[in-house]
Amino acid sequence: MTSDAECVRFLQENLPRLHLRWAGFRKVRRIVCKRIDHRLKELSLPDTDAYRDHLESHPDEWTVLDAFCRIPISRFYRDRDVFQFLEQAVLSRLSETAIAGGEATMWCWSLGSASGEEPYTLAILWRHSLASQFPMLAIRILATDADPEMIARAERGCYPSSSLKELPEAWRKEAVGPSGEECCIKPAYRAPVTFLLQDIREGIPEGPFHLILCRNLLFTYFDETQQRKLLRAILDRLVPGGAFVIGRTENLPEGDFGLEGWSNRAGIYRKIIRAVARFGTARAVPGDG
Ligand SMILES: C[S@@+](CC[C@H](N)C(=O)[O-])C[C@H]1O[C@@H](n2cnc3c(N)ncnc32)[C@H](O)[C@@H]1O
Repeated sequence: MTSDAECVRFLQENLPRLHLRWAGFRKVRRIVCKRIDHRLKELSLPDTDAYRDHLESHPDEWTVLDAFCRIPISRFYRDRDVFQFLEQAVLSRLSETAIAGGEATMWCWSLGSASGEEPYTLAILWRHSLASQFPMLAIRILATDADPEMIARAERGCYPSSSLKELPEAWRKEAVGPSGEECCIKPAYRAPVTFLLQDIREGIPEGPFHLILCRNLLFTYFDETQQRKLLRAILDRLVPGGAFVIGRTENLPEGDFGLEGWSNRAGIYRKIIRAVARFGTARAVPGDG
């Protein structure tokens, strides 16, 4: 079995080739190291040095290593502060603006949606807290992930109870039905969510979206070059005034991305509305709350 030190060295040396950053993997490295170990056995290779040689002589293997670096950790209502702020401030604001603009649908995108915990949490929150306030508005949530296994699990919508334990009890009772050992999301809460297998580096959904959740992926695991490039492309799909949510422990890369803080504590930003000034230069319209 590969020692921790050997695996750490291997990751530190090779993650940059995939535009991934070691710092993001430090705490979750055992997940990746176990997969590499398994691969060494499959290929009958003695150690990570031999695997490194194998990568050099078989360039397709980099895709295999890249897939090993997808971290599947998620849970319902992950980071309560984030969902509370969405519920109490962001979603009603976005809804009012959408309705004022004559729209009938609130479009949301959950990027790196793992087995569906994040988009289903949003669907549950909407139905319980906002749907009755905004009956003229429907919510639609697109959930994308690069891992086919994650997408298949998400579409099945059944979870161990441990994954749901942070969800408020009243919501859990309404939204989830027992099914043997598992708890399955009821059809009414699944209906607004569509899952799509998509690698963010290869494609981006059309949009535009009123709300984009990009948590615990881009700003944790990708290097800064990749972060900047993808962030610009992602924000192109966000409506002016729309909300952009990152993980609570994540930071945006340095630079002007046309965002202003909405809740620093919850990692929620608003896309600045730029008006075209008289002489043709764009200027920011100050946020109003
Ligand atoms: C740590 S989970 C985050 C899940 C959820 N966003 C959350 O915060 O709980 C990261 C997810 O991103 C997915 N992922 C990794 N690389 C990706 C890529 N290049 N494009 C799209 N999804 C990716 C992984 O498969 C995994 O399901």
